[in-house]
Amino acid sequence: MDFSVLLPQAPTELKGRLQRLINQSLETTGIVKKDLPLWRPDFYRVHDSPYWTRLSKDKRDQFLRLSSKCILKEAISIEHAGIAYANKMALLAESQEERQYYTTVAYEELGHLYLLQPYFEFSIDKDAPSFSTMIARVVEKESRRDSIILIQVLLEGWGISHYQSLAAGTDNIELKNIFSKIVFDETRHHGGGVILSQYLGLAISSELIGNIQSVIDAIRVGPYQVAYMLSHLNKLSSYTEVGFLLSSIKAMETTTNKLKIVQQNLGKILSDDQMQHFQWTPFSITDMSQIILNSLEIARSEDQPIEDAL
Ligand SMILES: [Fe+2]
Ligand SMILES: [Fe+2]
Repeated sequence: MDFSVLLPQAPTELKGRLQRLINQSLETTGIVKKDLPLWRPDFYRVHDSPYWTRLSKDKRDQFLRLSSKCILKEAISIEHAGIAYANKMALLAESQEERQYYTTVAYEELGHLYLLQPYFEFSIDKDAPSFSTMIARVVEKESRRDSIILIQVLLEGWGISHYQSLAAGTDNIELKNIFSKIVFDETRHHGGGVILSQYLGLAISSELIGNIQSVIDAIRVGPYQVAYMLSHLNKLSSYTEVGFLLSSIKAMETTTNKLKIVQQNLGKILSDDQMQHFQWTPFSITDMSQIILNSLEIARSEDQPIEDAL
């Protein structure tokens, strides 16, 4: 099936007319732009790091604002992909209940999108972050069975703990409530994926193993964005310094904990033997430092402002 996740916006007049219908259905009055919310430094695990405490107030503010934009851009892109995914799965459904279930998922993802997009405006078809383009590729290309494992079991399972930490890490009460509501829905999306995967059986192809490992690798690489930005703002240029920075923000510990969550979710549908196919250890501090330094070098050689590299 030819299916595209990141669609362009409709021409202005059509967009306005359809938008009114969507707003009525969601019982909203339309998008009223809201201030950029911030997450606390402890959410990023930077609060105790000397690479944080030595920064000027301006640089700290810059870090918090840019990081918020990254979080919201990623979350909003994932909701776009979630709507597309649920629509595709409703089309591919093989029973009434399956189709009905995916229709509830699509409506909930649409609700999440409309709750989040007032906080940060950007053009999804032109400016989607790399993680969401990877998800879009899975939705567009993978079979029904493999998509359920990759999207619902792995990513939405991961989303539950990610959104819980987003709710806990901000003092913006309205946004806290939004993320708590999203967690509630994502639990059903993940749960449906576990039920359908168990029903469809456990055989996994080498291609699926590779795709699952790519998702795991995106976590094994560590807190890339946070470390990249802090290294940039501290003007770091050596492995040793970036390594110290990564240790000071507890990169190994947080990466190991995140991997455990993914492992638990995958363990709900795979046998112990199948779980042995995957590499679960975080990248070493040296490897993480190398990736960050490479990106910093490219950004410096091209004179990129910090925003462009995120
Ligand atoms: Fe969602
Ligand atoms: Fe979802």
